[in-house]
Formats: sequence, C-alpha cells, structure tokens
Amino acid sequence: MVEGEPNPARPPPGTVLCALSDLTDPGTKGFRFREDRKVFAGFVLLFEGQLRGYVDSCPHAGWPLAAWEDRYLTREKDLILCGGHAALFRPLDGACVAGPCMGTHLTPWPVGLEGDQIVTL
Ligand code: FES
Repeated sequence: MVEGEPNPARPPPGTVLCALSDLTDPGTKGFRFREDRKVFAGFVLLFEGQLRGYVDSCPHAGWPLAAWEDRYLTREKDLILCGGHAALFRPLDGACVAGPCMGTHLTPWPVGLEGDQIVTL
C-alpha cells in the first residue's frame, strides 16, 4: 500500500460493529478487518455515556495499543493506555497526555449508533 492511500480493509460506513450493550461504561472493544493482506484495526470506547472510535495505532511507533484483547484502558479506567511504551491518552479526544508522543492524538475512527447497534460512519 502506498502511503496516504485508503486502507481497503477499513470497513465502509454503515458496518455494524457490535451492540451498545456489549460495552461497559467505561469500556472498550477492539475490531480487526482483513482484505487480502491488508488489516484495519480500530476500537470503540464508551466513557461517561459518550461513544468514541479510534484507529488502533499508537502515534508514537504505530503499534497496536492494547496488550490484551479489548483492554485499551488503564486499570483505573480513566485513560487509554498504549502497551508499547506506556503512552496515555484522554478517552474523549484521544490527546496524548503522557509518554513519548505527548502533543499528538489518536486517529479518530468515526462511529455512531443506529438503534442499539454501534456502526461505522
Ligand atoms: S508505540 Fe505507543 S508508546 Fe510507543
């Protein structure tokens, strides 16, 4: 894939990811999609009643964030944690507030609700 080209594995708008009831608040759930040899990884987050989605790639080194499946939050569940080198991100805007990529942001992955289903936008 050439840098800047859209990832063909990224699911199109309207793709159903899961039910809202599959998430606790706060809570997260990760998703991986494949198209041939390409992979798109993202996760959704419910925090203080607000829904967010982010691409599962740390702005520091591009590694996936979660060290364990679906566990993107710190033990206190107040920040998103990168298992790579322990960068911390605010849940609702993805801003890095500690670690080697301070001043950067997670890449948003727009998601929304259709009924009680979380879908890509
Ligand atoms: S890859 Fe996330 S902090 Fe280094």
